[in-house]
Amino acid sequence: MRKKLVAGNWKMHGSLADNAALLAAIKPALAGIEAAVCVPFPYLAQVQAALAGSSLSWGAQNLSEQAKGAFTGEVSSAMLLDFGCTYVIVGHSERRSLYGESDELVAKKYLAAQAAGLTPILCVGESLDERESGVTEQVVARQLDAVIGMAGVASLAKAVVAYEPVWAIGTGKTASPEQAQAVHAFIRGKIATLDAGVAEGLTIQYGGSVKAANAAELMAQPDIDGGLIGGASLIADEFVAICRAAAQ
Ligand code: PGA
Repeated sequence: MRKKLVAGNWKMHGSLADNAALLAAIKPALAGIEAAVCVPFPYLAQVQAALAGSSLSWGAQNLSEQAKGAFTGEVSSAMLLDFGCTYVIVGHSERRSLYGESDELVAKKYLAAQAAGLTPILCVGESLDERESGVTEQVVARQLDAVIGMAGVASLAKAVVAYEPVWAIGTGKTASPEQAQAVHAFIRGKIATLDAGVAEGLTIQYGGSVKAANAAELMAQPDIDGGLIGGASLIADEFVAICRAAAQ
């Protein structure tokens, strides 16, 4: 059976005090459940200290495509490993749209993550315009192809894909379970044309306004294997309920 994984994406939120309270609440409540939190770089040490030895993993929200050197302000895969990261989000739509990350750069970051032994959580998804113009599948296929072209389909055996329709992120507008399932099935089907085994084993998360109230119906879809959770991952009860819904 393929692995279910819920990951919190804290984005640029948190403080030492707020994080300590959040981690102290979710850690015992999720004992025995595999889940992860992807936190801002400065808090990696805090999360490592708080979660070491638990069933929870942690990671970052971005990394440099470069291994090391004169790249002011960047953070390398090796640095993330130093802090015990398992995961790193690559190609989040906010990075693509606000920071100009191209498909090619996202693919390079994915490669850098895997080269270091980190598991990339590769985000794909269409904007509202693209959905309304009927090109959702083309957009998602293009984003996947950029990575498959550079890293090969077999690399997906050591990655997680997150389908996040941009119009559903932080808007309160969740994709319906049917809408999400349709794109998840498309993603798995597309990968299956290249490697059926990799497609079958691939964890595909849904992200975009997931909350405790809608998690169960989303997680019940056959091709939805967990979630990438923004706003609701900052609220202990919400995050715990979502992780439990996925684990069922
Ligand atoms: P949201 O964000 O849950 O706040 O919609 C999800 C994400 O951007 O990963």
